[in-house]
Amino acid sequence: MKKFWHGLLPKEDLCTAVDIGSTEIRVAEVAIEDEQPVVTALGSFPTPPEFLAGNFKSDTLVFALKQAVEYAGAKGRDCVAAITGQKVITRHVSVPVMPDRELEKAVRWEAEKFIPIPLDQSIVRHVNLGEVAAGDGKQLRLLLVAVPTELTYEYYDLFKLAGLHLAVIDVPCFALFRAYNRLVNESIGGETMAVVHFGAATSHFVLLKDDQLLYSRTMPVGGNHLTEVLARGLGMDFDEAEKLKLEYSGKVNLDEAAVTADPVQFRVGSSLQDGIGELAREIGRSLEFYHSQEFSLPVEKVIISGGPCKTEALVQFLEQEIDLPVSVGSLVLPLDECTGLSAIDNGYAVAAGLALRGVFSNV
Ligand SMILES: Nc1ncnc2c1ncn2[C@@H]1O[C@H](COP(=O)(O)OP(=O)(O)OP(=O)(O)O)[C@@H](O)[C@H]1O
Ligand SMILES: [Mg+2]
Repeated sequence: MKKFWHGLLPKEDLCTAVDIGSTEIRVAEVAIEDEQPVVTALGSFPTPPEFLAGNFKSDTLVFALKQAVEYAGAKGRDCVAAITGQKVITRHVSVPVMPDRELEKAVRWEAEKFIPIPLDQSIVRHVNLGEVAAGDGKQLRLLLVAVPTELTYEYYDLFKLAGLHLAVIDVPCFALFRAYNRLVNESIGGETMAVVHFGAATSHFVLLKDDQLLYSRTMPVGGNHLTEVLARGLGMDFDEAEKLKLEYSGKVNLDEAAVTADPVQFRVGSSLQDGIGELAREIGRSLEFYHSQEFSLPVEKVIISGGPCKTEALVQFLEQEIDLPVSVGSLVLPLDECTGLSAIDNGYAVAAGLALRGVFSNV
């Protein structure tokens, strides 16, 4: 096992992984120490609103990126970043097994069907997720990713303005696959598990089994949805509701006595339960999309991560709605002393998975 890591992770050229989320910029760096991968830098800085507004050249955003890298203590200038947002499109397709040259053409043809912008203005890549038996022959499972070329330039320029070099662009589902395939404290031997990494605006649903990524989907809901439901239910604005949500996130549970002890807690609890109902429905939709594909497997459990998991009742409420065991994932990658930390917050799952890029040669 030690050899496996050692051979595949870069030893000297440290790569700084950057996950720019809608609320936090998270940075991680992984190095090899005593033949083991160790997190040598970890840190974050709040994402300024300029990022969501698409103003990538703003001084505030450049400053925030620099700060995140500095706080983390990352030393490598070469970066790998996850690119996200509505403009990034991913699709799972199956095609007959064919030579690589023909595959390129087939990918283009498939891509034309789902990319709303001209192909010459997008970067389209496919990842081979393996073969499956189909009738008398075999099918190739592919994940197609399309990103507007312009958006990649904007990311590149942002990193350059911050004194960094964006060497690799990746998408969150691969980062999560890498992180959860190896790093989570769960036994995943043979089980088909769904990882749901919740964010603020969106969340990522990734299905894995052994060393295979079976399916992924971006869900259009996250922690902001809980805040919006709370704001509507209690007649307050978003910022007030966000504060209240954070204040009560550790107190609300399904134990009726605890819920009814405080009237505000009761109202926050029922709003959160309503909001979580929608998150659960999105997980249900993702499972349905997966099962509507040929050759799907039964899903055995759900592992959750990301900021909204700090809502204590999330596991309880989700388990009420989806008929599967749910648990909170924790990343078990060792931390170097210089980080000054004792554990990695699971909100870093994307950043940690980006930092592990190169460990799995297929993604
Ligand atoms: N202690 C907490 N209790 C409940 N919710 C929390 C807590 N801390 C953060 N959150 C929620 O988590 C969400 C932010 O999660 P996270 O930081 O993972 O998102 P992000 O990566 O910045 O965003 P995205 O991935 O959507 O771009 C917000 O909705 C926030 O309210
Ligand atoms: Mg995120």
